[in-house]
Amino acid sequence: MNTGPSRRRFCQAAAVGLAAASMPTLRAQPAPAMLRVRKSALELPAGDPIFAKYADAVKKMHALPATDKRNWRRQAEIHADRCVHNGIDFLPWHRHYLNQFEKICGQVIGDPTFALPYWDWSLGRGKIPDAFFDRKELTVEHWNDPGVYDTPNWPDIDTRAIRAIGKGVGVQDHPQHGGSFTASAINSILNETTFSRFNRRLEGTPHNAGHVVVGFPPTGKPGHIGSGLSPLDPLFWLHHCNVDRLWAQWQMAGNTTASFMQLYQGHFVNEAGQSVDVKAADALDFRALGYTYQQFGDPIELLRRAGTIRNIADSGRWIDSFLPANRIEAAAPAALGTFKPTEAVEVGIAAAFEIPVRNLREQLSATRTILDTSLPPVSAIKNGLDEKMLAQFGRPKETSRRIFAHLKGVALESATPPTVNVFLNCPYLSPRTPYTDVHFADSFAFFSHESRAGHDHGGREFFVDLTKAIQDVDLKAAEKLKLQLMAAGPDIDKPVGKFSIQSIEIFSA
Ligand code: C2O
Repeated sequence: MNTGPSRRRFCQAAAVGLAAASMPTLRAQPAPAMLRVRKSALELPAGDPIFAKYADAVKKMHALPATDKRNWRRQAEIHADRCVHNGIDFLPWHRHYLNQFEKICGQVIGDPTFALPYWDWSLGRGKIPDAFFDRKELTVEHWNDPGVYDTPNWPDIDTRAIRAIGKGVGVQDHPQHGGSFTASAINSILNETTFSRFNRRLEGTPHNAGHVVVGFPPTGKPGHIGSGLSPLDPLFWLHHCNVDRLWAQWQMAGNTTASFMQLYQGHFVNEAGQSVDVKAADALDFRALGYTYQQFGDPIELLRRAGTIRNIADSGRWIDSFLPANRIEAAAPAALGTFKPTEAVEVGIAAAFEIPVRNLREQLSATRTILDTSLPPVSAIKNGLDEKMLAQFGRPKETSRRIFAHLKGVALESATPPTVNVFLNCPYLSPRTPYTDVHFADSFAFFSHESRAGHDHGGREFFVDLTKAIQDVDLKAAEKLKLQLMAAGPDIDKPVGKFSIQSIEIFSA
């Protein structure tokens, strides 16, 4: 399977479509002339003007009166009052929320090109960008915003203005909490071809873990970013920008997103300070919302220069028009075993479930078919397309099936959310076993309360990818998997909390 991180996937995917789609369906809606271009914060020089601009926007939004809906606190209250988690609206809701916020930033600083940078936790050790310590307006301590709030959507918020990790410390550095942010964890998610798994895994693993790892210090009240008021921390917006970027990257690879039905009536505020109604479905085309990501480049321009396309009458047309309809998944998921845990999982204590499974070896040697989107890099396109590579564009490619555990009906019974590492058949598992251990498979984390408004319909669910551990530990011939969950709170030595799981299903896809 292709697990190489691809910063150039947009161009590649665009090229796939150009070569493969015989009848591209052009959309009527032209993208805005000027797109705001979001860049990778950790790859910008410390003195890049974007950090000063963002600091200025934060300051100006704090200075607005509380009667102005663009005020910093009012913006964070939108999240506490309305945010949607644990379901398909997670991605479109937050995409619209960021889009409106970004335009407000641009408006208050008088720069409509302002684009949020994103915090790519898979780079290096995933440190919080230095500017978030060096510029006082980008810290939480400087503002010391009050953290008490209560709303049906997110009851009993009580937080303080701190972060749990300091300058230069990466989210990957913690031996127990860091496994959610590695390039291999992220690539496993990007390799999903169904929206339901992609969405759940992106939310349940790096997204939730980011809130928990930055939001929960070992003692005392949580930091703002660990709560429904998380947007009080200027870092929140960069964290979500990266979540949004990964969704965009996944879309660009030709994957099809679910159809969204919701109307978010009056949820958001535009740059003029007015409430707006937006449709979830309108989140799909981010270029039509007015922004893009730098990694995507300008594929039409590159391809035009390369002589591949000559007559694109309207290069403003959204490149999605040229993407392959969807990546193919030939084989339906196959159920391999199920298990119903009877005991709750306690933080700091290994929970082990012996789950009988059928046909692991056959399933691992079976294949699934996806469209090959591993295409030439931008530089190759710039210098003229390599015909051999071009011939591969959009070809179906056989890749191995993967084995997953699907945890359903998961309910957290404590206020402090743990991160949970999933191991397979580890004979020496302890609360200190690091995510770098060969038996480590995947991780997930909890974020958001059980809301009074009942947004967590049907409980939480998580998907974990067991494939690599099955191969590395050599469990291909196993008739039972010993699935071990090790939950870790902020203080490894003082474990508190527990959660229950209704069922665990092992399947291949
Ligand atoms: Cu609605 Cu990451 O939060």
